[in-house]
Amino acid sequence: MRLGLACLSFLLCALLFFLITYDGGARKIAITFGRDIELKEVSIDLQNLARDGHVQVRKEDAKVNNKLAKKIKGKDHNHMDPELNVFFTPKDLKIGKKMPIYFAQRNASTSPKILPREESDKIPFSSKHLPSLLKFFSFPKHSPQAKAMEYTLKHCEFQAMEGETKFCATSLESLLDSTRQIFGNSCQFSMLSTTHLVNSSVPLQNYTISQVKNMSVPRVIGCHPLPYPYAVFYCHSQQSDTRLFVVMLEGEDGARVKAPAICHMDTSMWNKDHVAFNVLKVEPGTSPVCHFFPPDNLVWVPLPSAL
Ligand SMILES: *[C@@H]1O[C@H](CO)[C@@H](O)[C@H](O)[C@H]1NC(C)=O
Ligand SMILES: *[C@@H]1O[C@H](CO)[C@@H](O)[C@H](O)[C@H]1NC(C)=O
Ligand SMILES: *[C@@H]1O[C@H](CO)[C@@H](O)[C@H](O)[C@H]1NC(C)=O
Ligand SMILES: *[C@@H]1O[C@H](CO)[C@@H](O)[C@H](O)[C@H]1NC(C)=O
Repeated sequence: MRLGLACLSFLLCALLFFLITYDGGARKIAITFGRDIELKEVSIDLQNLARDGHVQVRKEDAKVNNKLAKKIKGKDHNHMDPELNVFFTPKDLKIGKKMPIYFAQRNASTSPKILPREESDKIPFSSKHLPSLLKFFSFPKHSPQAKAMEYTLKHCEFQAMEGETKFCATSLESLLDSTRQIFGNSCQFSMLSTTHLVNSSVPLQNYTISQVKNMSVPRVIGCHPLPYPYAVFYCHSQQSDTRLFVVMLEGEDGARVKAPAICHMDTSMWNKDHVAFNVLKVEPGTSPVCHFFPPDNLVWVPLPSAL
């Protein structure tokens, strides 16, 4: 019964998500990138990826990430990119703890559309097709959009690291199928994402922790949107020691946010240039690194009944 309900609510949730994000009437694929796609946006997405600690290890990524690290190091702490206010350490996870956090509110009208599989299957998704894709979407070769698309395709083509499972989803169906494949062939998983229970127009502000729930899940799949003309999620799951929490936060302007947060307990293998070490002023391996997920990320977990 519990499983049945879970499946039902999951399907409803997925359907809702689908209805909200896919404009079924429009046959033509929206070619806006949603967000103003500038290189700044690409670097923000890189930070998004960097938060999960895997970026450092790859040669291809290290190059971009070092550039990013330099950019951040060049500024003093007060002038760091506000979006980096998502890192913390497990000792901060206490009721009453106050800290500055950046939560941009999701804006559905500016998010790229998630396509149904029948649409996305018609469009090749591979960097060897980039020239024809640029033609298809009418983006000039050296435009920021072209760079963003190249970046996204390359990211999706990187091999997973040891102990890591990754996939890119270009449709709702592939997102669900690949998630199910990782958790096993059952319906017992659910999605968490950062949600504003009371809205706010102040992205960076001090929040006070009012509740912490330790999720004790054996596996977490984190999905980050990548810049592309339609919704593309880069999802990955690491075998390494992680803890997942759901944290209730009260903003100074009255905002209330429910946010999943992950703690990476062992950071000894991370590159010392990782942005998190810069922000938290700790050395690799000396402290676990935790972070909140931005509202446009999806976090999949097995349901407790499946444990
Ligand atoms: C969402 O984005 C649109 C277009 O940029 C803007 O007009 C609107 O005010 C935004 N909504 C919110 C809630 O930020
Ligand atoms: C928050 O704002 C969004 C629009 O940006 C709206 O759809 C949603 O209902 C609002 N939520 C609350 C709790 O007011
Ligand atoms: C958060 O609070 C501290 C101390 O109360 C203050 O110095 C800081 O400017 C605040 N940060 C933000 C982003 O409001
Ligand atoms: C969360 O739960 C795990 C085990 O499920 C435990 O090892 C850990 O100490 C807990 N963390 C906190 C902060 O309560």
